Amino acid sequence: MTSTIIAPSILSADFSRLGEEIEAIDRAGADWIHLDVMDGHFVPNITFGAPVIKAVRGRSKKIFDCHLMIEPADPYLAAFADAGCDIITVHAEATKHLDRSLQAIRDLGKKAGVSLNPATPESVIEYVLDRLDLVLVMTVNPGFGGQAFISSVVDKVARLKTMIGARPIDIEIDGGVTPQTAPLVAAAGANVLVAGSAVFKGGNEQAYADNIAAIRRA
Ligand code: DX5
Ligand code: ZN
Repeated sequence: MTSTIIAPSILSADFSRLGEEIEAIDRAGADWIHLDVMDGHFVPNITFGAPVIKAVRGRSKKIFDCHLMIEPADPYLAAFADAGCDIITVHAEATKHLDRSLQAIRDLGKKAGVSLNPATPESVIEYVLDRLDLVLVMTVNPGFGGQAFISSVVDKVARLKTMIGARPIDIEIDGGVTPQTAPLVAAAGANVLVAGSAVFKGGNEQAYADNIAAIRRA
């Protein structure tokens, strides 16, 4: 899967050394950096917000792929854009006006993504395909790293691939991605893989490089 984009999730990084960890996965071969923003309301966990992203922006030139697990998201889009997010992804389940949210992200000059929880059908994005740069398919219930991959979601990836057709929309997979599960979703049509615990296990830069390579060659 050499053409697959690998986006390590810093949720599994050592938060006491976040800047160094981002530099380490950059050197270890990460293509994008996946930043999981959680508000303790939309998901049962709290991580960090725009100020932290702003603080670490200078540690890597790689794409900052910002996954907003927050509700509401619209009031904060400008802050995340200003903090240095290159892709801003909102949850379809966290907004009553998905078309407006996606348009607002693009109006800020950023790439617009929508994330779908495991139980959410792909049909919810049928009328916003022209507003999308990325679909983030959750293969775990959002809120935590290290959870088990929900294999029933693989069918959704295949159906999304058909729905998207030739449009320039990335299909990103998030949750429980390992060298064992990566081939399943790549075969179904995913081209971007998020991995947190599978990348950060081992706790040092060489381990990160080995883990990224293992997913990439799976
Ligand atoms: C979960 C996050 C994921 C998570 C992935 O809510 O959105 O990005 O960090 O972690 P792993 O790869 O360990 O499942
Ligand atoms: Zn995520």
